[in-house]
Amino acid sequence: MITFEHDAMEYLPGREILKDVSLELKRGSFHFVTGASGTGKSTLLSLLSLQQRALRGHIHMFGEEVTHLPREKLPRLRRRVGVVLQDYRLLEHLTVAENVGLPLKVAGEPKEKTRAKVLELLGWIGLSGCGDVRPATLSGGQKQRAAIARAVIAKPDLLLADEPTGNLDSELALRFMYLFEALNRDGATVVIATHDEHLISLFKYPVLRLKEGRLAMPDAAQKTSEKMPKK
Ligand SMILES: Nc1ncnc2c1ncn2[C@@H]1O[C@H](COP(=O)(O)OP(=O)(O)O)[C@@H](O)[C@H]1O
Ligand SMILES: [Mg+2]
Repeated sequence: MITFEHDAMEYLPGREILKDVSLELKRGSFHFVTGASGTGKSTLLSLLSLQQRALRGHIHMFGEEVTHLPREKLPRLRRRVGVVLQDYRLLEHLTVAENVGLPLKVAGEPKEKTRAKVLELLGWIGLSGCGDVRPATLSGGQKQRAAIARAVIAKPDLLLADEPTGNLDSELALRFMYLFEALNRDGATVVIATHDEHLISLFKYPVLRLKEGRLAMPDAAQKTSEKMPKK
């Protein structure tokens, strides 16, 4: 279970992006976060991924109060979170396969096993031929696919994806949504930030709607855990 209690966040003093956000994400739930551009979707994900710290309020996740947790304790928790950022953040000095396999390497998985898993996943997402090239040679959509692969490969407890389908055609977008659903069925809590109302309408998951730094429908967070995938 993840809870936010009256959380606020600002980048510049006096300019609060999130003002009073409370939510509850049950373990194994699936949520969309939406709202107009600039409303704070990515900021909300940066708090969930422990990249940024809240200005006020409390955040509980993985059984800990993380708001005031000492910095050195964060990496251990971050390893349980798979993140797809809007700008992908692939490491340019590593190959695509090394990027995708990084979470397994960090988890101490043997090289051979990692390689096999990476190749299988690359094949599944249509990047078979790209394992040994550098990210710089990939198109935007290919980078996005590699970033998603890296986020899911170690089966995180929490998967956060920021506009993960923004650079994909609709068929691929669906394929990745099914991948997120498979991870969710295995127990992961999934949060997808998207401004794509069509995508949201295709999947009947609860929606957290941000407006002017607040959740416009705070009650949406109460109806969490029910999973009602469209079939
Ligand atoms: N690193 C940053 N420094 C200063 N302002 C930022 C930073 N990141 C985002 N913002 C501002 O915070 C607001 C919300 O941004 P963001 O969370 O990216 O919104 P969204 O993802 O909904 O488009 C915007 O006004 C944006 O300009
Ligand atoms: Mg954003």
